[in-house]
This record gives sequence, structure tokens and C-alpha cells, in this order.
Amino acid sequence: MPIIAPSLLAANFLHLQTESQMLNQSVADWFHLDVMDGQFVPNISFGLPIIQQLRSTTQKVFDVHLMIEEPEKYTEAFQKAGADILTVHVEACRHLHRNLQHIKQCNMKAGVALNPHTPIDSIKDVLHEIDVVCLMSVNPGFGGQSFIPHTLQKIRELRKWIDALNLPTLIEIDGGVTLNNAAAIVEAGAHVLVAGNTVFASKDPISTIAQLKQIQ
Ligand code: DX5
Ligand code: ZN
Repeated sequence: MPIIAPSLLAANFLHLQTESQMLNQSVADWFHLDVMDGQFVPNISFGLPIIQQLRSTTQKVFDVHLMIEEPEKYTEAFQKAGADILTVHVEACRHLHRNLQHIKQCNMKAGVALNPHTPIDSIKDVLHEIDVVCLMSVNPGFGGQSFIPHTLQKIRELRKWIDALNLPTLIEIDGGVTLNNAAAIVEAGAHVLVAGNTVFASKDPISTIAQLKQIQ
């Protein structure tokens, strides 16, 4: 069963408490929280105060995806705001190894996200330091885009490496995940499915989350 991480980027921001209650009633595992700075990606979303306020509405894992430049400047701040997993982009980090150490020293799990054009070789030498590899299956910045099929090959290859080294590292897929392609993504070897529009634009989000969770 995959870990299900609904992305609140697609939630109704006027009713975040209600959206959080809905997720609490569902079998969703993580809250995926997309932070964008208008520099690393051509969009601005939400940041620390929203995450901090949401923290009091749920016990579920906060999976914070930083689409920002110089993410190392904000490690402590996101830990204080309630992040359990802090994911930085490999393309935004000059000293990725140091950043990962720092995230873990701050008692969070360390995630690394890769843009669609970034080869998985770019994390090979730090794989043993990574708790979650987030493979972007769309270009980051916006919800509601279509899944890039080449991601499936990246998942298969990365999963081979992880299994060969017997690592606990999770593979998370972010962007364009739907009820139609989720089975192929899990079959390729993904452990975590992020879903924004598929969940929040659904007529029955709780049932959609349950359907994603059922995928073998
Ligand atoms: C994109 C974000 C995603 C996004 C996914 O930059 O990182 O998490 O919210 O949205 P969907 O599932 O709608 O593609
Ligand atoms: Zn994301």
C-alpha cells in the first residue's frame, strides 16, 4: 500500500481547517505542503505562518516540499513551524550533503527533490543520507499538470539502487498523479504518492484517497 500525501496546494485556502479535518477523517498519511518563493519556481504559494497554524489541526506527518532558493537558511524555521520531513531541491543546493546533515540534526527526516530534467545520478553519492527522494513528475511550480511518462524509468532505476543497497529510502512521486496512472507508478517502485488536484478537485476526496491507498 502506498503512502498517500495529498498536496494542500490544491486545497481551498479559505477553508484550510475544514480541508485538514477532511484529511484527518481520511486514510491519508501525510500532508504535502508546497512552499514556493517565486525565484526557484515561477510561482509563490504559502510559507511558515500557514504551516505553523495548520500544525495544530492534525497529528499527521508534515511533508514540506521547499521549492525555494537557499533552502538551508530556513531549516530551523520550518522545524519550528512543524515540519516532520523537509525536502530541498538538489538544483537549489550547492552543499547538499551539509544541508541534509543539518535537516537531520534538527530532528527532521531529510528529503531531496529532483526536477524532471535532473538525472538520478545527481544524488547517487548521498543516497544513504536521504530519507525521501521526491521525483518531480511535472515541472515544479503549479498543480494540475500532466504526468511526465519518463518518470517511470527513473523510478525503476532508483528503486533498483535502493533495494541493492538495502536502504530505507522512500521514493515519492509528485505531480500529475491520478487514479488512472497511480497503479503504474506504484508498480514501477514508488512508495509515496503526492496528489493535489486528484484529491481536492474530487467530488468525494475521502473516497478518492481511499482508492489511491488501495493500489497494490
Ligand atoms: C508542484 C507541486 C506539487 C503539486 C501537485 O510544483 O510540487 O506538489 O501540488 O499537484 P497535482 O497533483 O495537482 O499535480
Ligand atoms: Zn510538491
